[in-house]
Amino acid sequence: MQQYVIRGGNPLVGEVEIGGAKNAALAALAAAVMSDEAVTIENLPDVNDINVLLEALDDVGAGVDRIDAHTVKLDGSTISSLTVDYESIKKIRASYYLLGALLGKYKRAQVALPGGCAIGSRPIDLHIKGLRALGAQVDISYGMVSVEAKELTGAHIYMDKVSVGATINIMMAASMAAGKTVIENAAKEPHVVDVANLLNSMGAQIRGAGTDVIRINGVNSLHSTTYSIIPDQIEAGTFMFAAAATKGDIMVKNVIPKHLEATSAKLIEIGCEVEEFDDAVRVVASKPLKNTSVTTLPYPGYPTDMQPQISVVLGIAQGTSVITESIFENRFKYVDELARMGAEIKVEGNIAIINGVEKYTGARVSAPDLRAGAALVIAGLAAEGITVVDDIHFILRGYEKFDEKLRNLGARIEQASSEGDVTKKMIKVS
Ligand code: UD1
Repeated sequence: MQQYVIRGGNPLVGEVEIGGAKNAALAALAAAVMSDEAVTIENLPDVNDINVLLEALDDVGAGVDRIDAHTVKLDGSTISSLTVDYESIKKIRASYYLLGALLGKYKRAQVALPGGCAIGSRPIDLHIKGLRALGAQVDISYGMVSVEAKELTGAHIYMDKVSVGATINIMMAASMAAGKTVIENAAKEPHVVDVANLLNSMGAQIRGAGTDVIRINGVNSLHSTTYSIIPDQIEAGTFMFAAAATKGDIMVKNVIPKHLEATSAKLIEIGCEVEEFDDAVRVVASKPLKNTSVTTLPYPGYPTDMQPQISVVLGIAQGTSVITESIFENRFKYVDELARMGAEIKVEGNIAIINGVEKYTGARVSAPDLRAGAALVIAGLAAEGITVVDDIHFILRGYEKFDEKLRNLGARIEQASSEGDVTKKMIKVS
């Protein structure tokens, strides 16, 4: 078990470089093996989720050449198995992108059915609906989803709910289906656009990604390319809220400010200054923080992956704030942990009512999932005294060198590798 040991209380000041978007990279890696030629992916974040998906690609026989920490060269021509087992899916749900990718390329795939996860039930009915519409026979038995088609044919598909994963899976399969596909009510997230751009640079014909209607003309094969992943807007937003919580001044570099608009708008609303540059945003929190209300929505709405981080900040803002979580039903698990640090938050269904307190106090808390884990770290950085965050394996799934980047901003945070090490790290941060 690994922990972060944090002594909070000092403002974070300085510059931080944001890495490639984990969620874009996961889909991009699956899309890359749809070609029988080499595809090089750059600006890959060096985080556990990516490494696990690369292992899953290796397991199905794809060539995986890790050129350096942030670059991988993939060879889809050597794929020898079309089955992704439960071991891979259990570790990384996004392995289900191989369903659309392998179906598109080989007209057949078998992927273990992902179960629920820490943030709620995660059905894949919309993925299945879309793949069926393209002509795939879908069978679910013995915990596996099997998809098979003599021929995939373009179709008009209406998504009943906006889903990032289903949009990307259908887009990948449709890229190699015969004829034209139209996806209506498609997800507009930046990573949907990123995957479409990658596929287009491999010869796919996808138009409209980033709007709610995506049009795809299927092609027979995809070719070699080199592609650089977009910056991670969730990592960026996490540092922006760390600035707010600690009354700091952080220049968040290597970002696309447009992707951060919902986050920036909320920070301004609560009293921070946000300055936008071409590829950076600076967040200065010099005034008292004020309350607001937030509803999580698909892009360009406020992202659910940034809900715990803003809640932590609002927990120490003046007044009462209301958070409505409209995407996942189980995304308030961190609230009980935050209460141990002095937060006053009441959860009713998918709504959290936050009464701002003057300050948090350090406590031992446990990360319930990836983003909530990062939010608890932010709380620890703002708190008086020492906070120990347990179960940080969740955080390591999606944040590269999180502690190192925070230390460079002046944070007193250390990673501990065992219970004994926690005591040593407590002395070190004191
Ligand atoms: C992706 C992100 C995740 C983010 C989420 C919402 C990745 C790897 N993960 O997850 O970090 O929190 O987008 O922005 O990119 N739904 C269905 N049926 C389906 C699929 C989804 O009902 O077949 C529902 C989900 O339960 C949820 C909503 O649709 O309520 C949105 O989920 P979706 O956009 O699919 O999330 P993911 O792609 O799984």
